Amino acid sequence: MRLLIFGPPGSGKGTRARLISRLLKIPVITTGDMLRGEVSRETEVGLRAKAYMERGELVPDELVIELVEERLRREDCSEGFILDGFPRTLRQADALDRILGERGVTLDLVLNIVVDPEVVVERLSLRRWCPRCGAIYNLKYDPPRVDEICDECGAQLIQRSDDREEVVRRRLRVYEEQTRPILERYMERSLVREMRGDIPIEEIPREVEEVLGPYLGNHLD
Ligand code: AP5
Repeated sequence: MRLLIFGPPGSGKGTRARLISRLLKIPVITTGDMLRGEVSRETEVGLRAKAYMERGELVPDELVIELVEERLRREDCSEGFILDGFPRTLRQADALDRILGERGVTLDLVLNIVVDPEVVVERLSLRRWCPRCGAIYNLKYDPPRVDEICDECGAQLIQRSDDREEVVRRRLRVYEEQTRPILERYMERSLVREMRGDIPIEEIPREVEEVLGPYLGNHLD
């Protein structure tokens, strides 16, 4: 299954993507995590991306498209994948159409998470993230068992530098201006299913199973 998760910053894309990945046993491609990896390894891409990310702006299309194209070529994507955070501009959406077209495949589903921007600002101030395995926590809604330590791999959790309120507000503006408009293209193709981003976090697994029901088949225990 080829799935795209769409929604504003902090809407719960990563939380759902990780869950769906476990259910369907397909990889998640999170451009934000890939770029943060490039930044921490101080690669050429990372050095170029860093300032944009810290300001809450989009990294130039050509850098992100190249990363995604390379990632989609890997063997583990042959049975499907989940895109989280890509595409975010019309140019990226065109590139995705081209990449999938060259492989003779299409997207199966676009999940669009709808949430109030003020909810997002509070959530992101409380988010903690594992830089080693990508697990996502929230100090109020989904805390780790041991303070600031990842339940899944034991690494020290960090707060993302772009989760400061003024940066989050800019990311929300960028989403409205540059990213939301591309949803139209997927609506025209009847690919979009809406998900409510404001339900309690513990209800997300049930919501995901409901929406993905027809695709889960034997994957559910
Ligand atoms: P990226 O890392 O993609 O950030 P984002 O899209 O802004 O999304 P987030 O990761 O902040 O949030 P999310 O929706 O995944 O929510 P989460 O599940 O973590 O991008 C960062 C930067 O990288 C961009 O600004 C840009 O510079 C660059 N970039 C990335 N992709 C790019 C691209 N394609 N092109 C150009 N530049 C790109 O949840 C958030 C928090 O809320 C967590 O603490 C979670 O536990 C909690 N939570 C989730 N759901 C609930 C709930 N229902 N109730 C309570 N708490 C909840």
